Amino acid sequence: MDTKATYPIGMFDSGVGGLTVLKALRQRMPCEDVIYLGDTARLPYGTKSPQTVTRYGVQCSAELVKRDIKLLVVACNTASAMALTAIREAYPDVPVIGVVEPGARAACAVTKNQTIAVLATESTIAGGAYQRAIHHLVPTARTMGHPCSLFVALAEEGWIDGAVPEAVAARYLDPVFNPASGSVDPVIPDTLVLGCTHFPLLAPAIRTVTPPSVTIVDSAATTAETVFDELTRLGLTRSGTGCGKTAYLTTDDVPRFARTGTRFLGTPITENEIELVDL
Ligand code: DGL
Repeated sequence: MDTKATYPIGMFDSGVGGLTVLKALRQRMPCEDVIYLGDTARLPYGTKSPQTVTRYGVQCSAELVKRDIKLLVVACNTASAMALTAIREAYPDVPVIGVVEPGARAACAVTKNQTIAVLATESTIAGGAYQRAIHHLVPTARTMGHPCSLFVALAEEGWIDGAVPEAVAARYLDPVFNPASGSVDPVIPDTLVLGCTHFPLLAPAIRTVTPPSVTIVDSAATTAETVFDELTRLGLTRSGTGCGKTAYLTTDDVPRFARTGTRFLGTPITENEIELVDL
């Protein structure tokens, strides 16, 4: 096995949302070591300008690249939408995978009426990256982008079920799905992409205001598959039977990262697994 195959995979998000991608990656490639960085000090990214998100994204990448990673996953849709090109230019020797294209692929694989709604942060929707990625795959698809930035705060706060997230979901999605709101498009989307790595936690609340015929997808599983394919292509998958280790980096408040991260990952993250870093 190439020594480089034993190097870790690096991943980053603005906060703990990318742990939904880490969870899928762990399931797909349990032997791999991973270093996960959550830039919690500067969250949210989703309301910031492309210039700022690009600067943050390149800084997060620099922190991971200096730790000898074999591949970088940009586990944040906002950074994938805005900073992917700059990150690839800054680190031409590191394979870089974002989450927007895999998310678009997941949506295009299930839509039947080729009408896809994208829920994401304000910046991701404004930049149009999802819409472009979907049209690239299915040129005839209709896309509707809906900024839902408040979902990020709800997920970080752990308010993921009950009256509050359901009311927020209704406020965002009634104009898409509820004819009583008066503004529904004649062709209702049959597919809803959760285009922000924080949103899968709110899927049950989102489901309460979405017709049962609508398929809800996110990019976690397809991103994990893309990473597996890329590492296989490069001959860099780590073989063996052991369990890969995960190291966590955060730019702020270790106890909070442990607490909220545990909720996103679904398995405990202890404070001694987390290193505080300054970018
Ligand atoms: N999790 C990030 C994403 O996937 C966004 C959260 C934020 O606004 O920082 O877009």
